Amino acid sequence: MAASIAYKQVKIFSAAIRIFHWLRALAIVMLVATGLYISWPYVVGADSTDVLVQGWIRFAHLIFGFVLCAVTLARAYLFFFGKSDIERRSFKDVMSFKSWLAQIKSYLWMGHLDKAGVYGPLQFMTYFAISVMAALICITGLILYANVYHEGLGGALWGTAAWLTEAMGGLAMVRIWHHYMTWVFIIFVVIHVYMAVWYGIRFKHNAVDAIVSGYDYHPEKH
Ligand code: HEM
Repeated sequence: MAASIAYKQVKIFSAAIRIFHWLRALAIVMLVATGLYISWPYVVGADSTDVLVQGWIRFAHLIFGFVLCAVTLARAYLFFFGKSDIERRSFKDVMSFKSWLAQIKSYLWMGHLDKAGVYGPLQFMTYFAISVMAALICITGLILYANVYHEGLGGALWGTAAWLTEAMGGLAMVRIWHHYMTWVFIIFVVIHVYMAVWYGIRFKHNAVDAIVSGYDYHPEKH
């Protein structure tokens, strides 16, 4: 008879964190797809101007753009003020050279990966960098928005947006930076999905399923 191992179930991600993760994933995929279309409108509409393909794509881009703005803000709030400190605790490892070494070695199949929180230091810094990137792409997106829509929110943002447009060297530069950052997200998503699957295979816990169910499983020590 095969020996069975007992696993302990540990809750690591709250419902809010999981919902925001998948909302953000959906928003990013839709923003990359619609954003690249805006920059290169490859579907040529029929002769009628009523078709307005580019208009609908831009509309979808803005809807998901505002979803991303909202989730970026909510997620930053949760990181700092959320009830569970499982994410904040990971910062301890970021400040420890030993933890960096342990993570890199464990990725090369040398030794274990013991973490103070839910992320390793390399993982924490990658997520930190992509969060800063999300804030920057939202800011440049809002600048582009305010340059097109002069009433309502666009009007309210216009003073700051005009100043930032000038500071970035003009509207063309804002678009170019917004476009460059798109590629950072494309590269991040590919590596992130690969690493999440690989992590589950390498360490046998805390991988793709955890951000769906919220639970991680550790073998019980006897
Ligand atoms: C991951 C997030 C995002 C990605 C990948 C993305 C990608 C893109 C890309 C590739 C373009 C075309 C730029 C070009 O002209 O070459 C674009 C345009 C635009 N984006 Fe985004 N975007 C994101 C977030 C946002 C956000 C948060 C907003 C604002 C709420 C926004 C508003 C806009 C606007 C208004 C344009 C149109 C610019 C124009 O008409 O020239 N984007 N986006």
